[in-house]
Amino acid sequence: PSGGRLIVVANRLPVTCSKDAAGKWKLQISAGGLVSALMGVNNYSTLWIGWPGIYVKPGRDRDALAAMLKREGYLPVWLESGLLDLYYNGFCNSVLWQLFHYVPLQLDGWQRLGEHQTLQMQWGAYQQANDRFGEVVLHCYQPGDMVWVQDYHLMLLPSILKNAVPRIKVGWFLHTPFPSSEIYRTLPVREEVLRATLRADLIGFHTYDYARHFISSCTRILGLEGTPEGVEDNGSVARVAAFPIGIDPERFAQALETQEVQMNIAKLLNRYAGRKVMLGVDRLDMIKGIPQKLLAFEKFLHEHPEWRDKVLLVQIAVPSRTDVPEYQKLRSMVHEIVGRINGAFGTLTYVPIHHLDRQLSFHELCALYAVTDVALITSLRDGMNLVSYEYVACQADNAGVLVLSEFAGAAQSLGAGSILVNPWNINDVAAAIEDALTMSEEERRERHRQNFMHVATHTAQTWADTFISELNDTHIEADLRL
Ligand code: UDP
Ligand code: G6P
Repeated sequence: PSGGRLIVVANRLPVTCSKDAAGKWKLQISAGGLVSALMGVNNYSTLWIGWPGIYVKPGRDRDALAAMLKREGYLPVWLESGLLDLYYNGFCNSVLWQLFHYVPLQLDGWQRLGEHQTLQMQWGAYQQANDRFGEVVLHCYQPGDMVWVQDYHLMLLPSILKNAVPRIKVGWFLHTPFPSSEIYRTLPVREEVLRATLRADLIGFHTYDYARHFISSCTRILGLEGTPEGVEDNGSVARVAAFPIGIDPERFAQALETQEVQMNIAKLLNRYAGRKVMLGVDRLDMIKGIPQKLLAFEKFLHEHPEWRDKVLLVQIAVPSRTDVPEYQKLRSMVHEIVGRINGAFGTLTYVPIHHLDRQLSFHELCALYAVTDVALITSLRDGMNLVSYEYVACQADNAGVLVLSEFAGAAQSLGAGSILVNPWNINDVAAAIEDALTMSEEERRERHRQNFMHVATHTAQTWADTFISELNDTHIEADLRL
């Protein structure tokens, strides 16, 4: 941003806070693509505003934590548990997250938690939470700063900020898909949400399709004029464009050189010796298609007795949004399928699925990415999916195969170098597993080369640079029109 600071506003801070046994504050890196990508953005003087993953009453304890966060450049937004529940578990993750991933709204979803959450209450909390974020931003905003609002949690923030400071420079980026207008228009508060988001100077999506869906929602629902450039509302123009996100490949390359990762790699290679290993890394979320992936592996083992005992699947399922009943149900379902497959195909010395319900450290994750032969990504819908990028970044030596869902945004960038699958077609995925396991080294290297070229050049840094420079330009044009 020309001169000022970059204020990143996201629901979640890059660290999640908790207390250790001795009562001392502990900061853990938050899992998720948004945090990973933004941590790979370095060139700016950045202040990050977000929820610290915990509520602390006003007082000395809160001040101590806030001071600790401030040293890292983080400013917390405090949300009491009642508000958080309706806003985060409710409107964000039971309504918007579902809808944006093509899961239709469900009446019983709104009755969950205390059994009396209505959409009206969740929407009220969403407005209130967005106001809270707005207060924190406005409290520290200085002229010249640029505000970059992230994701579906904060779609009302552009309007809150513009109402308070008409000349404020505001961009908004969505880290999920934006669905077809035929899905979006089922949202009871569809107009309010669109109108508020449209107040941003620049609106960004991962892919051109998502941008197109957003523009057509604005034309169909609000009757506004949409052009390939953006949407015009009452003389003001919101520029809408695609900015595909990436990772910081250097961070992975450097980690692979460290002694810690090298030791992890040696241990894993020893443990997996003589077998092929496939890897799944997902937040435990229904959009990731984990049951579909497991069923495909089951089918593969069933049809290929010769592979039993010779291939295993390591599935990391990072716990996510554990207070939302849909996520709890998914966890039981996944455990049941894993148990069934391990029971049916395991032996005294072989367990086909190694399933972990926890978050790994960065170094553990890098080692796994580096030693595995195949990555299985079966998202039913996914904004981009950065796990696929991270896998490619760590496979320079091995040239492992990426099996990638065509419903992940990454299919548009890594499609040519991957085996693309429809995760709903279990036969198709089982066949892709066989292809991946038997692919010639020459073909693996060629596919990996293509993917690696993309990952190395389309980084998180170039993503942020492009968005920010476009936001500057758009804002100058908007200023000229005033
Ligand atoms: N991740 C992590 N710890 C883990 C597993 C995953 O920090 O134990 C990170 C992973 O490195 C990746 C992110 O979580 O950057 C997942 O991003 P992705 O875009 O694939 O999906 P999202 O979780 O955002 O839906
Ligand atoms: C996705 C969302 C992010 C979110 C992440 C983890 O990547 O786009 O906004 O931070 O999932 O989810 P959580 O609810 O734990 O923040």
